[in-house]
Amino acid sequence: MAETIVLFPCMAQGHIIPFLALALKLEEKNKDKKIIIVNTPLNIKKLKSSLPPNSSITLLEIPFNSSNHGLPPNIENTDSIPYHLVIKLLQATNSLKPSFTQLIQNIQKHHQNIVIISDLFFGWTATVAKDLGVFHVIFSGSGGYGLACYYSLWVNLPHRHVDSDEFTLPDLPEARVIHRTQLPANIAEADGSDAWSLFQHSNFSQWSNSDGILLNTVQDFDSVGLNYFTRKLNIPVWAIGPVVLSTGSGSRGKGGGIEPELCLEWLNTKPLNSVLFVCFGSMNTISVSQMMELAIALEKSEKNFVWVVRPPIGFDINSEFRENEWFPEGFIEKILEGNKGLIVYDWAPQVEVLKHDSVCAFLSHCGWNSVMESLSHGVPILGWPMAAEQFYNCKYLEEEVGVCVEVARGKRCDVKHEDIVDKIVLVMGESEKGVKMRKKVAEIRQQIKDAVKDEDGFKGSSVRALDEFLSVAATSIKDKNL
Ligand SMILES: *[C@@H]1O[C@H](CO)[C@@H](O)[C@H](O)[C@H]1NC(C)=O
Ligand SMILES: *[C@@H]1O[C@H](CO)[C@@H](O)[C@H](O)[C@H]1NC(C)=O
Ligand SMILES: *[C@@H]1O[C@H](CO)[C@@H](O)[C@H](O)[C@H]1NC(C)=O
Repeated sequence: MAETIVLFPCMAQGHIIPFLALALKLEEKNKDKKIIIVNTPLNIKKLKSSLPPNSSITLLEIPFNSSNHGLPPNIENTDSIPYHLVIKLLQATNSLKPSFTQLIQNIQKHHQNIVIISDLFFGWTATVAKDLGVFHVIFSGSGGYGLACYYSLWVNLPHRHVDSDEFTLPDLPEARVIHRTQLPANIAEADGSDAWSLFQHSNFSQWSNSDGILLNTVQDFDSVGLNYFTRKLNIPVWAIGPVVLSTGSGSRGKGGGIEPELCLEWLNTKPLNSVLFVCFGSMNTISVSQMMELAIALEKSEKNFVWVVRPPIGFDINSEFRENEWFPEGFIEKILEGNKGLIVYDWAPQVEVLKHDSVCAFLSHCGWNSVMESLSHGVPILGWPMAAEQFYNCKYLEEEVGVCVEVARGKRCDVKHEDIVDKIVLVMGESEKGVKMRKKVAEIRQQIKDAVKDEDGFKGSSVRALDEFLSVAATSIKDKNL
């Protein structure tokens, strides 16, 4: 009998997008399955406009009114609120429990065979599913190693137990040494009784009620993190990545950015492997002084570059970009004169840029989606992690995989243009290390290609993992119905 797959992402763009990508992948693979994405009204409205017209995915609303939770009106997405309100919105998601339970019960009236794929911040859905006898997995767009460090840090708060700046993770020794500067603000400040700690502890602990974990990564180069969750929770972990949105269905951001054609035309004029792509993801920006230093570094490195800029920290992210205040004097003129750089406001067609032969390296915040896109196209990374598990993505890619060099760390760190120049030259130049990195990233690119291969009877590891997840779910449903 056909199954119904219910996907339930947390109300954050960085979560909704990988869920949408997964939903589309599942739809393509399983034409007979009914696929539903559940979310709050405003997010459903936005999702409606990003679904391809030929998609049969059903979107279901679940009621939510931010005004009833001490939030400004019409707030349903972490993207539209200042940082200090994010935890408030997350806490408020607990109020979705009765309507989500009701929604699953309604589906159960007509369809016995349900699979829930839910968000890592919605640990409570695992308990709901268990109580209703429904198969449940957690899906995250993060990589295994980064998420394992993040999970372990929250569960153990190791930095509270030492005075030193460096510490290890008691249940993840493979992560070696972590430095305090690699902690996102909420973990650095956590003492076990603050709002973030309470939220993460109570919700993470319910993962053990889930039947498995799906991660947007590839088994071959991310097994440490995958093994961590297997041994910690004793449930299967399936690496099914990369799960990416094909071009066209993604959001172009508020500003609309540059026309992809213009960007590619500019890249076409540049030699092979000569361009540095700089983009910190749709959620991040840096400080004015960091922006100044980075601009000087780009100029001094004498490399070609495409730089996606947003107003710096402390300014409205939607405001006009003020070149005269936020860039060094004469920067734009010099860039235009030498035709060395392309400054892009708000948004660039990231996948097309990374695909382009002229691009040599990616200066990135190390969000996992960006990491997967970069590695899929064989582009080494200059890491500037800024939040959440990005610090451990960067650490892993540098220390264990060998395809990244960290340039800077966090939104408040001091950066010096000389250091940035050194690292740009290291990664893009002909140094032994640069050559080795490019060789390694070519290997990783092949591993990713192989993982998603599904032809002539050959199935790659990510294809097999997705098949196995679906078959374990189907078997479990059959057992429950007996
Ligand atoms: C929708 O159209 C796209 C592009 O032609 C195709 O790749 C995809 O498989 C189609 N999806 C469905 C559900 O038919
Ligand atoms: C949300 O709740 C507030 C106050 O309780 C109410 O005034 C408002 O109309 C509600 N909004 C929606 C969309 O229902
Ligand atoms: C998730 O965390 C919130 C905030 O601490 C807590 O109120 C809630 O009970 C947790 N959810 C569940 C289902 O335990």
